[in-house]
Amino acid sequence: MDLRLILVSLALFTAAPASAAPTLPAAAAACAECHGSNGVAATPGTPHINGQLQTYLTDTMEAFKSASRPTEVAQHTSIALTEKDLAATAKFYAAQKKAQRPAQVTDPTRVSAATKVYQQRCEKCHVDSGRDSDHDAPLIAGQALDYLLQQTSAYISGKRKFPFMMDDAYRGLSQEDLLSVSHYFAAQR
Ligand code: HEC
Ligand code: HEC
Repeated sequence: MDLRLILVSLALFTAAPASAAPTLPAAAAACAECHGSNGVAATPGTPHINGQLQTYLTDTMEAFKSASRPTEVAQHTSIALTEKDLAATAKFYAAQKKAQRPAQVTDPTRVSAATKVYQQRCEKCHVDSGRDSDHDAPLIAGQALDYLLQQTSAYISGKRKFPFMMDDAYRGLSQEDLLSVSHYFAAQR
């Protein structure tokens, strides 16, 4: 093979992985202010969105747009995204699987007390302590504790609509159980 051909094929070969890595569209640059450049949020009350299921990210941003899921953030940036940018943004954050969610202060007594509640009520969908998913459940291992508590209240008060069958999972649980199970998910690495 002629040297030039080798160089060209080498360039093509090395260029491929770089172009395959999803990038954040310019219109979504502001997301980083709250959710961090790789989806690991540094702001209290802000969820980590790195490595989240792409379908969940897309559906959630659509829900913010249609106001079927309320948001506390006035003019949440995701609302203004075009369909194309929204899809690219979801793809980018879903791909940030290596970014580590920071360890948080959780109550070990609550974490162990919640293990049974988790296994009986949540594991079916929030598989592997929230690291995996069935029935389209979002990945919530290591999610920000204050965010988990806030969303738990939103489900209970009806501000956020329960997904299919999660109302059954919550039924009969005490405030204490729900508090503990939030600590359980927050404590996962
Ligand atoms: C001013 C801060 C701020 C900005 C900017 C922002 N967000 Fe958010 N985002 C939040 C907060 C706070 C929440 C959780 C509370 C709520 O929904 O009101 C949230 C929730 C979310 C959720 C739901 C997470 C879950 O686990 O259900 C997604 C997805 C999301 N944001 C994506 C984005 C994207 C994509 C952008 C940029 C296009 C963006 N956000 C810009 C603060 C922000
Ligand atoms: C039948 C399946 C199923 C079961 C069982 C279930 N969930 Fe969920 N969960 C889901 C789905 C689907 C969503 C996302 C729906 C939505 O957008 O509100 C979700 C969302 C959540 C969220 C919000 C996450 C976020 O990022 O905003 C929390 C917190 C949560 N679940 C906690 C629990 C707890 C605690 C239990 C057990 C007591 C449980 N879930 C049981 C399916 C389930």
